This record gives sequence, C-alpha cells and structure tokens, in this order.
Amino acid sequence: MLSKKMQDALNKQVLIEAQSSQVYLAMASWAEIQPGLDNVTEFFYRHSDEERMHMLKLIHFINERGGFAVVPALAQPALTYPSIQHAFKALLEHEIHVSESINNLVDISLGEKDYATHNFLQWYVSEQIEEEALARVMNDKLELIGDDKSGLYLFDRDVLNVNVAGGGQ
Ligand code: FEO
Repeated sequence: MLSKKMQDALNKQVLIEAQSSQVYLAMASWAEIQPGLDNVTEFFYRHSDEERMHMLKLIHFINERGGFAVVPALAQPALTYPSIQHAFKALLEHEIHVSESINNLVDISLGEKDYATHNFLQWYVSEQIEEEALARVMNDKLELIGDDKSGLYLFDRDVLNVNVAGGGQ
C-alpha cells in the first residue's frame, strides 16, 4: 500500500510525464511544417508517445499498489520555436527537469521505506540517464552545425538512425 505522501508524489510525476508528452507533441507538430525535418518530426512524435508510456506505467503502478492515479489537466505547451536548436535545447532542459523530479521521487521512496516503489523507480532512473545523454549529444551536434543548411540536412538524416534504433524516447 502506498503512503499518502508517496501516492501524491507519484501522481505529480504522472502530470510531469503527461506534460512532457504534450510538449514533445507540440514540437513534432511544429517540426512537421518546417522544410526538411522529416526525421526530426518523427523523433518528436515518437518521443511524445514514449512519454505517454512513462505516464501509463506510473498510472498502472499507483492503482495496482492500492492508490488512485489522477489523470491531470495539462498546460498549453510552447507551439513554435525560433529554430531547431531552440527546440532541442528546450528538450534537454525539460529532460533535466524530469531527471530531478525522478531523483526526488527516489528520495521520498527511501524516506517512506517503500522499497517496492524504490525498485519500480530504478527503471525511470536508467531511462533518464539515456534520454539526457541523447539530448546532450543532439544539442552538441546542432551547436557545431549552426546555420549550415547542409549540416542540418545531415543532422536530420542521422536522426533516422536514432529513430530506427528506437533510442531517444
Ligand atoms: Fe519520461 Fe523523458 O521523461
């Protein structure tokens, strides 16, 4: 059985994952109307789906542990970005924020001596390490590319490999 404190904290994470899905969905929609960003668009759509999966996993866990998962209201995400660099910078900052939130949840689970939740959260800890690392690599590449059009073309082509490999989600 989840403590009230643990349940509230997990429900807060449900909101964060749902909001993440919404933010990346908006990035996908924006990227889709930019020229030449087909694979980047696909990356954002897949990332959005992945965040929804993170949310669902939490919802099932809360309910299976005798709690009640609250489906939250969402805020309007940013709809447009001045450049692809801005979008990926926002993605990295968002993932850093999510990682902090997961770490906080791990702290709470230990404080509550809730080892089942602690164990469940290890999957999210690993996932965040991967997502943050990938976002950093993409930001570094984009910084090197700058405004170079052929570089951006190659960047979009490289993202195809990320999509095929199933990473970055
Ligand atoms: Fe579910 Fe990217 O954090």
